[in-house]
Amino acid sequence: MAGLKMKSATTCLLMVLFLLAAFVSLSSFYNLNIYKSCNTSNSSDDHPPDISPVTLSMPAGNCTCTIDYHRASANAIFTPAISCDCHQQSSSSALGVGNSSSSSAHDEVIKCPECPAPEVRVVEKEVVKEVVKRDRCPGVPWYAEGKEWHFPARFPLCSMDVCFNFSRCENADELLIYTYDLPVPPVRYFSRIIESRYHTTDPEKACLFLVFLDTPSPWPPHPNTLPHWNGGLNHVLVTFADGWEHRNPAPDSIGLASVMGTIVFETIFRAGFDIGIPLPGKIHSIELQTLKPKERKYLAAFRGLRYLGDRGDGTFRSRDSFREMHNGKDVIVATSCNQHNNNLARKEHPEIGVNCDEDQQVYANYTYGDVMNSTFGLVPAGRQPASYRFSEVLSAGTIPVLIADNYVKPFDTLIQWHKCLLQFPTSEMHRIVGVLRAIKEEELLKRQENCLQYYNEFLKDDETLMKTAVRALKARFVGAFPSFTEVRRRKQ
Ligand SMILES: *[C@@H]1O[C@H](CO)[C@@H](O)[C@H](O)[C@H]1NC(C)=O
Ligand SMILES: *[C@@H]1O[C@H](CO)[C@@H](O)[C@H](O)[C@H]1NC(C)=O
Ligand SMILES: *[C@@H]1O[C@H](CO)[C@@H](O)[C@H](O)[C@H]1NC(C)=O
Ligand SMILES: *[C@@H]1O[C@H](CO)[C@@H](O)[C@H](O)[C@H]1NC(C)=O
Ligand SMILES: *[C@@H]1O[C@H](CO)[C@@H](O)[C@H](O)[C@H]1NC(C)=O
Ligand SMILES: *[C@@H]1O[C@H](CO)[C@@H](O)[C@H](O)[C@H]1NC(C)=O
Repeated sequence: MAGLKMKSATTCLLMVLFLLAAFVSLSSFYNLNIYKSCNTSNSSDDHPPDISPVTLSMPAGNCTCTIDYHRASANAIFTPAISCDCHQQSSSSALGVGNSSSSSAHDEVIKCPECPAPEVRVVEKEVVKEVVKRDRCPGVPWYAEGKEWHFPARFPLCSMDVCFNFSRCENADELLIYTYDLPVPPVRYFSRIIESRYHTTDPEKACLFLVFLDTPSPWPPHPNTLPHWNGGLNHVLVTFADGWEHRNPAPDSIGLASVMGTIVFETIFRAGFDIGIPLPGKIHSIELQTLKPKERKYLAAFRGLRYLGDRGDGTFRSRDSFREMHNGKDVIVATSCNQHNNNLARKEHPEIGVNCDEDQQVYANYTYGDVMNSTFGLVPAGRQPASYRFSEVLSAGTIPVLIADNYVKPFDTLIQWHKCLLQFPTSEMHRIVGVLRAIKEEELLKRQENCLQYYNEFLKDDETLMKTAVRALKARFVGAFPSFTEVRRRKQ
């Protein structure tokens, strides 16, 4: 069992040895993928410090095993995927060993990740692929198959009627919010909530309790240990993480708490109870706001990263139906593969970088400012459906075209998004350009006007975002309705 080259990350090393022990006792495996979280919180960098993929030779079954480290999103914990290729032919029933083993050590090691990824490494046979996939993640609903950010797990059924204590909120003029400072104080645009009139340091007076989940390692140990948790009653869990499953408590363990996050999905969202929030824009191109839709350089444009590999998140940016929108004239899709994790992956598997070099030349031909000078701004999901690009496009008076599946748009109980943006599922990207060309100028003007109004009223800076979040929380008291009905006043 030689060739294990991991200089630091002691936790990982121990874990791998442990796994190997399990391998030896299960040497009849034909193909095996084992996932286990690996604590790299010691590393500040965005890649595993000294861990590069290692190949292990298995003495017992003549297996060759590979450990590959990947993480599903920035800030997520690195997860080693171990796959073994055994030369000995074995029947497919041998695969069942994974399930039928009664060894408790084994149970501890083989752990289905919360969220499925398409098979990382699969040995020859199709049948192996299917069996492994089904074994690994039982009960994945159809909408989550192969789509990592279609978070398949569910939160407990809840609504304001049954999961909320209104009497806590009765005696104050203003919505009073208590924020726990440990383990994480309010983050991002919530960081100044402490100075706002909504904040209280007295838990007795609080109507709402905000819990910030985005800790560097899994939530220690569980929010239900918080002093005023009370089954999660009147608690709001706030997260900007790319995937709920990476660090947050098990979704079925959050009790009566509601979720305020960038990763809420239509299929798990509890309307009127959970709230979708945006990532704040990093660049605001307000100088472009005065350009009317038809006065702009491009019809639609995007310039950004591609995500390589067969993991679900954002990899659709590599699909032909995305790339082929680019015509070099009025529709620009300029992508780059040049990113740390991509580069590592390409070194290992050059074949996944197909078209990267060619795309890089297109990418070099455009600037960020260029692509914002566009009637429509393409906003494809990346590591998660929410993106910085969304607010950035809005800031420029550019009409967003979201490309995301199953996505609950931010503050959708306050903002009538259908009057501003367009949204397409990733399976319908081939329709986008045709639909955009058919939109009349009058409608373009109206959409741009609405988009700008929403940006200025709800999203334009941190203070506005925090206030909007509080407004969205307040809207729940009067039955936040995600679908709006317009009541027109009859002319006299
Ligand atoms: C964390 O990093 C420091 C400095 O590189 C090292 O001395 C320490 O052993 C590391 N701890 C773990 C748990 O890997
Ligand atoms: C991860 O390691 C750090 C020290 O390197 C430690 O403080 C932390 O508690 C560990 N987290 C888990 C979940 O083991
Ligand atoms: C494993 O490899 C050795 C040497 O290459 C060979 O003699 C042996 O038959 C192989 N065992 C199995 C189970 O394939
Ligand atoms: C609801 O809040 C009121 C006022 O704070 C309190 O008296 C009551 O015990 C709470 N109910 C529950 C179920 O926590
Ligand atoms: C935007 O594009 C239009 C049309 O090509 C051009 O006239 C205008 O100068 C551009 N504005 C900026 C700020 O780039
Ligand atoms: C880059 O732009 C130049 C000038 O407009 C053009 O001739 C060239 O074909 C473009 N290159 C690519 C790869 O699009």
